[in-house]
Amino acid sequence: MTDRRPRKLKIALAHNVRPPENERTQAPLADDRFAEWDSPETIAAIARVLEDHHDVTPIELNAEAYENLRNLRPELVFNMAEGLEGPAREGILPSLLDLLHIPYTGPSATTLNLCLHKARANEVLAYHGIPVPQHRILTTVPASLDAFALPAVVKPLYEGSSKGVRDSSFVQSLAELQHEVQRILDTYHQPALVEPFLAGREFTVALLGNPPALEVLPIVEIRLDQLPETANPLYSYEAKWLWDVPEQPLPIFDCPARIEDSLRGRIEDICRRTFEILECADWCRIDMRLDQTGTPHVLEVNPLPGILPNPAENSCFPKAARTKGLSFEEIVHRVVANACERHGIC
Ligand SMILES: Nc1ncnc2c1ncn2[C@@H]1O[C@H](COP(=O)(O)OP(=O)(O)OP(=O)(O)O)[C@@H](O)[C@H]1O
Ligand SMILES: [Mg+2]
Repeated sequence: MTDRRPRKLKIALAHNVRPPENERTQAPLADDRFAEWDSPETIAAIARVLEDHHDVTPIELNAEAYENLRNLRPELVFNMAEGLEGPAREGILPSLLDLLHIPYTGPSATTLNLCLHKARANEVLAYHGIPVPQHRILTTVPASLDAFALPAVVKPLYEGSSKGVRDSSFVQSLAELQHEVQRILDTYHQPALVEPFLAGREFTVALLGNPPALEVLPIVEIRLDQLPETANPLYSYEAKWLWDVPEQPLPIFDCPARIEDSLRGRIEDICRRTFEILECADWCRIDMRLDQTGTPHVLEVNPLPGILPNPAENSCFPKAARTKGLSFEEIVHRVVANACERHGIC
């Protein structure tokens, strides 16, 4: 991991800001449209950190973004913009920046779009021998159980921040499966992804740097046993945004995860290989779960990890970093330094 601070740069902070009415405390359960976007507080906190060393201009990823970036001509873009709609939304900003020859933090449009499509990403990983759950992609409600292994998890094909992954996504019967597939098709206007439920412990792993200096931060266990008693064993939208609030955080993260060295080694190895196979850059967070036999599987890869500045709020990447002795500020500076090194900006 690099400690070298780049010189003072003209940086654009590319983001999408969550509208005030969609702040988590007020967000109606049905409207998770902006769940992936960052709050004004998070964007301001990252801007403040960058301003310690750089000239910073926030740029919202909207229809004016290309013109704004072209006029500003930053030397680097700090990319935290998720885009709004469609399976290629995360690739929009990197594509615009490629067109303008402006370097940015994080990976290319190819990687961002691939990781957003959970099935395609897992197929690529499976090709390289990384354990992933099997899946079926459904564009219609199934009439029979056919080849579905139950219990199963039903989720939107290309969403993040647990959008669409509800407590009810854990299905144990044909009727539940049909109900959830219908819900995904109707609400998210995209195919439903059905995977066998991996019943073991869940972990999330933050990575910082680039190969060969890629660092795996302390592993976070998602303690699903800390969910409300009636909840299904998923880190669902309810678990993330409704049951876990800053005023009363759920004790759901255990970091460093209490696991034996051999499992830690296996998880770290899978994460490093996954980062390289999918061509992630600068940072990333990988969600994993054990199956019944204790084999770690990659659930999904987040190449633009979310980070909340307030340590009172549960946020996986900052939690892992803090365990390693890295502050929120250091995460941001290291991501910039990693990108500068990769792009040859000194
Ligand atoms: N096949 C599976 N087996 C067991 N649990 C699963 C499976 N798929 C998803 N889950 C559960 O659902 C949660 C959310 O799923 P997933 O990570 O795919 O959604 P996401 O919206 O992309 O998450 P993030 O908020 O990390 O972006 C997981 O953290 C896990 O608890
Ligand atoms: Mg996830």
